Amino acid sequence: MSERRPLRAAVVGAGRMGMVHGHLLQVHPETELVGLVDRDTGLAEHLASQGLRAPLYPSVDALYRAAEPEAVFICTPTHTHLAVVRECLARPTHLFVEKPLATSRVDAEAILGLANEARVMHAAGYVYAHLPVVQAAHELVAKGVLGELLRFTAHAYVSEVFGPKQGWFFQKEQAGGGVVANMASHLLFILGWLFGPVRRVTASTRSHFSRVDDSAQVLFTFATGVSGLLDTSWSVPGTQMLDYGVTVDGRNGTLVLGRERILLHLLAAAVGHDAGWSEIHASELPADTAFDVSPHIGGEAFYRQLQTFVDACRSGVLPFCSLAEACNTQRMIEAIYASAAAGTPVEA
Ligand SMILES: NC(=O)c1ccc[n+]([C@@H]2O[C@H](COP(=O)([O-])OP(=O)(O)OC[C@H]3O[C@@H](n4cnc5c(N)ncnc54)[C@H](O)[C@@H]3O)[C@@H](O)[C@H]2O)c1
Repeated sequence: MSERRPLRAAVVGAGRMGMVHGHLLQVHPETELVGLVDRDTGLAEHLASQGLRAPLYPSVDALYRAAEPEAVFICTPTHTHLAVVRECLARPTHLFVEKPLATSRVDAEAILGLANEARVMHAAGYVYAHLPVVQAAHELVAKGVLGELLRFTAHAYVSEVFGPKQGWFFQKEQAGGGVVANMASHLLFILGWLFGPVRRVTASTRSHFSRVDDSAQVLFTFATGVSGLLDTSWSVPGTQMLDYGVTVDGRNGTLVLGRERILLHLLAAAVGHDAGWSEIHASELPADTAFDVSPHIGGEAFYRQLQTFVDACRSGVLPFCSLAEACNTQRMIEAIYASAAAGTPVEA
């Protein structure tokens, strides 16, 4: 049990993700949910009926006057993030911004610039990067178990869009795009974290059912020379939960990252791992999660994501999931759409 005073945190945008973060902040032993903000004040009764006990304020200004949060979680529609961040940073407040950061690279970089200027801690909501199995794969690659990295293939599929869709989430100007910006971006974040800045992108996207991209194929070249392919769609039947995977080839072998396990094949023993095949199953990884608000989507990663943010606010050290890393993801998103629109490779 922590002796530390809980971090006073608030949520701006009390919709789908705002409620997830609100519940987490309410039950995490190191945080206190001091308020929610939504311009739809009619939500108050609904939020209370869902067990969210903090007051609902009609504006960021009203929240700050009444509750003095130390941290805010920005969970409004993506096109509003920059304006909401600007309002929140009128007083230095640690910042958690849901993904994608913005609808454009320029806005994402403006958000990062404001956070840096205000000298606050910051993080973005690419929650899958907090799964123990993803973190174990990253650690293996970062320690050099595969030797020089050469190439990768990646996929991200889900069964979600099979007909026309309504709402801001399916408008490019408000959501920043379709499957690439809003679903595959979780995997783009992981690819950027594994391989660094991207250099060149050749992409094609297609709208099968909605007015945004429902599928995409992408060829990447990273600044380090690593190249690879991504195939993604949210219109694939039979995949209720996000099905994602990455296979990385290096000079010393291959790592296959899936939802449930890592398969490793090494040509020579390295970093404590034998030559030949080995398997690290997700269930063998340390269970350091006190609770799981959403077992089917993201699962324990939401708790770990919050813990990482709280630790950053306490220590003053930016986390791996900072807004700077999320800007790298935004560069990838923008380059994919630019290449698909132009029908040519683009330099990112
Ligand atoms: N991490 C993930 O896996 C994940 C999943 C879904 C959505 N998201 C992201 O989370 C963010 C929110 O998405 P959502 O699905 O929760 O949206 P939502 O539509 O369910 O909720 C958004 C809420 O924000 C409120 N709002 C809009 N503009 C506002 C403003 N200027 N000030 C205050 N309140 C305002 C709306 O009234 C609404 O209640 C988006 O950036 C989205 O891309 C992330």
